[in-house]
Amino acid sequence: MTHTNPHDHIDAMLHETRVIAPPEAFRARARVTREEYDRRYRQSLDEPDVFWSEVASELHWMSPWSQVLDWQEPHARWFVGGQTNMAYNALDRHVAAGLGDKRAIVWEAEDGETRTLTYAGLLREVKQAANVLLKLGVQAGDRVTLYLPLIPEAAIAMLACARIGAVHSVVFGGFSVSALADRINDAQSKVLITADAGYRRGQAVGLKKNADEAARQTPSLEHMLVVRRAGCEVEWQPQRDVWWHEALEQAGGEHAAAPLDSEHPLFILYTSGSTGKPKGVQHTTGGYMVGTYLTTGEVFDLRDEDVFWCTADVGWVTGHSYSVYGPLLNGATIVMYEGAPNQPDWGRFWQIIEKHRVSILYTAPTAIRAFMQHGDEIPGRYDLSSLRLLGSVGEPINPEAWMWYWRVIGGERCPVVDTWWQTETGAIMLTTLPGAHPSKPGSAGLPMYGVEPALMTRDGQELGPDEGGLLVIKRPWPSMLRTIYGDDERYRKSYWGEIPGVYFAGDGARRDVDGYVTIVGRVDDVLNVSGHRLGTMEIESALVSHPSVAEAAVVGKPDPVKGESVVAFVLVQDGFEVDPAELRAHVSREIGALARPDAIIISSALPKTRSGKIMRRFLRQIAAGKAIEGDTSTLEDPGVLERLAATPPV
Ligand code: PRX
Repeated sequence: MTHTNPHDHIDAMLHETRVIAPPEAFRARARVTREEYDRRYRQSLDEPDVFWSEVASELHWMSPWSQVLDWQEPHARWFVGGQTNMAYNALDRHVAAGLGDKRAIVWEAEDGETRTLTYAGLLREVKQAANVLLKLGVQAGDRVTLYLPLIPEAAIAMLACARIGAVHSVVFGGFSVSALADRINDAQSKVLITADAGYRRGQAVGLKKNADEAARQTPSLEHMLVVRRAGCEVEWQPQRDVWWHEALEQAGGEHAAAPLDSEHPLFILYTSGSTGKPKGVQHTTGGYMVGTYLTTGEVFDLRDEDVFWCTADVGWVTGHSYSVYGPLLNGATIVMYEGAPNQPDWGRFWQIIEKHRVSILYTAPTAIRAFMQHGDEIPGRYDLSSLRLLGSVGEPINPEAWMWYWRVIGGERCPVVDTWWQTETGAIMLTTLPGAHPSKPGSAGLPMYGVEPALMTRDGQELGPDEGGLLVIKRPWPSMLRTIYGDDERYRKSYWGEIPGVYFAGDGARRDVDGYVTIVGRVDDVLNVSGHRLGTMEIESALVSHPSVAEAAVVGKPDPVKGESVVAFVLVQDGFEVDPAELRAHVSREIGALARPDAIIISSALPKTRSGKIMRRFLRQIAAGKAIEGDTSTLEDPGVLERLAATPPV
């Protein structure tokens, strides 16, 4: 391995030849050394029972497991027979150890309002919220949907569910009424926890109003628990609706965490797949807890005095594993910011870091690229000396953005970890460990303990170094999804049936001679827009549900900030005209603003094979403004490509 100067010309970055060693000061006191990683990684594969027992024993179990893993492909049970509780491990355990006064959550609103909850304070509210849920008739195994802004109550509600064994399903606050209704119906939730409104760019966004509308289509829903965040007027159904603050005030403050089976479901989180309907990825208690606990501690080199800020909303898996569960399991202090990164200006993140002395920042490449666009001068105005480690997640980070993050934000002092994982994997799977491994900008790196990755062809041939292929995982790991809620067949087919005997991630990648894995991107019809996962089929079905659209095909187009942007090819229904603004608003109503097409190309035909299959490959080339490459002879009318390429987007 060669060590190059990070200031070298940009060209060199794109060739991805540079290697950045862990800064010496960091390496000298890192939690994990290279030798330690090598030894433990080996052990995690050779003696998985010993390895995982050791890690799990650092947490509290109400009764011990009798078997570490029971694997009946594709179904895994981890820590079989063990009983534990996520909320107990995240809260009571630390309070019992004397950390009650330690700050658990430091929350900041867009307008600068802050609120701090200690571990003891957070535990008190979680116990009260648990009692409220019980009083509303929620029992272990029942589903509870959360539709909340990024406020402490989101974490409190998740932990309260975990405490009583209710299964939470968090729906991102930016999702539409129909997306919310679909998710409530799929999970058959009894209770919805929402807020009157959330704030975004100074505007109150009416969550209760959306929830009320969704509730008209969700017969399973019995109660709505409403957090008063904005103090705005809301409609009220006294039989159904309960104010969070009133209920908590009346609730008892005592609650003993329920001992739950290790395989008791902890949460469902909906994510996009390559077919229409989002999948309810189901995680369970013991394995997910052990996975998020271990990765947060070791990937982020966590110490008692750290202030950890993962910028993800709790509506996404990163928000579950690293804004809430992982750091709390480690007894860390978390920063939570409800607001946009450019409010009041692009210095907001750096101002928060300075104000709260954040030491670990974990964010997405799309944010890094947006900051980079606004120059080095803005972060230069703030004191970022509290930072000691930086993380990236959610999409491939281009070497240029990586270098900017390392140089401008980290001052070449803070290692950067590029962590690859998925909603399905529950916890970080590929990364470098900050004090142990050199970084190669643009490459996620090496497997975490217990993770055995490989690159394969579609027919299951394993590939050698530097050959591009499909990323698979060759054995089960504790925090893996257990099923798709209500559709085990889909679980079996999508993940363990694509290539027999291995977990199919849906990403294309390559691995170099040092074992570093570089993710290239999705190989299915899933887009990654600003780090958010969207199915092309979902957007297509939203488009065709509009009367003016006869048919639609959606593809991604490379975007310098968002990673990918949404391009929609739309066939107009006879007798209608397409109004692009109305169509974008329609997609927002159907899914959410994040799915709104950036470009719409109105056409009279789509490139189809004689059997009627749309050739998206060609549409991707057209969207990117590239020359058509590949065999067009299978198309019914090859002339359509030229016509589409000549049509300006609206
Ligand atoms: O394509 C990969 C990309 O995000 C997908 C998973 O999306 P989601 O389930 O929403 O979870 C995102 C946060 C964990 C993956 O299939 N992805 C995630 N992290 C990286 C990444 N691509 C490249 N590098 C990463 N570090």
